[in-house]
Amino acid sequence: MRKPLMAGNWKMNFNHLEAIHLVQKLAFTFTDDDYNTVDIAVLPPFTSIRSVETLIHGDGLKLQFGSQDISAFESGAYTGEISGVMLAKLGCHYSVVGHSERRLFHGETNEIVSKKARAALSHSITPIICVGESLEVREAGNHVSYTLDQVEKSLEGLSAENVAAIVIAYEPVWAIGTGKVATAQDAEEVASGIRKWISNRFTTKIGEQTRILYGGSVKASNIAEIMAGPNVDGALIGGASLDPDEFVAICRFRLH
Ligand code: PGA
Repeated sequence: MRKPLMAGNWKMNFNHLEAIHLVQKLAFTFTDDDYNTVDIAVLPPFTSIRSVETLIHGDGLKLQFGSQDISAFESGAYTGEISGVMLAKLGCHYSVVGHSERRLFHGETNEIVSKKARAALSHSITPIICVGESLEVREAGNHVSYTLDQVEKSLEGLSAENVAAIVIAYEPVWAIGTGKVATAQDAEEVASGIRKWISNRFTTKIGEQTRILYGGSVKASNIAEIMAGPNVDGALIGGASLDPDEFVAICRFRLH
C-alpha cells in the first residue's frame, strides 16, 4: 500500500562539505532492505543540494533528496528565489512547502503555499505540504478543524491527479523543536481526519494513496509508537535528522 517516507529536514544547518559528510555516513549504513521498505530523503539547504545530488547520482544511491522551499514563480525578477525549473534540473524529488517556520517568519499564507505546491507539481517535484495548529488552537480543542481548513486552502487549485501525487505533513507547531511530541493518538487523530477529508473531497482511492507524515520532535525513541497509527505514513524529521545514528534508527522504526 503506502510506502512510508522518512524525510530529514535539515533546516538552516550544515555547509556543503558537512552535507557531503552526513550523506556519506548515511550511504554507508543504509542497505537495499532499508530502501525497499521505506523511502528515505534528505532536505538540505539550497547551497548543499548540488553537492548532495552529485554524490547520490555519482554513487547510484537510492537516497532521495529535495529542497526546503520552492518559488511560486517560474523565472524572472524575483531576487533570492529558487525556481522549480532549477530544482527539477538538479533531480529534486521533493520540495517542502508551507513549513510553519516559513509561515511564521516569511509570511507564507495558504494562498502562497498552494501556488508553491502547484509550481512543484508542474515540474514533477512532489510537494510536502505542511499544516498544523498552534498551541492556542490545540488548547481550544479546534486542532482538527483548523488543520483541515489549512489543508483545504493549501490544496486550492490542485486537481485530483495532483493530489494523488502530493505528501502532506501534519506538524503541530507546538511540537516542533520543543521536545514536546504529540502523542501517537494526537498524530493519528489529525492524520485520519486529513485522509477522510481528501477521500470526501476527491475519491476514496486518492485518500488511500496520499501519504500523510507526522512531524514535531520525532526521535528514534518515539517513532515506533507514532508509526503505529494506521494513517501515519512516515515523518518529517528536523533536529534528529542531523545526527546520522538517530536518523538511521528512525528509518528502521520497524526494528524497535
Ligand atoms: P523537529 O522539526 O523534528 O526538530 O521538531 C520538525 C520539522 O520542523 O519539520
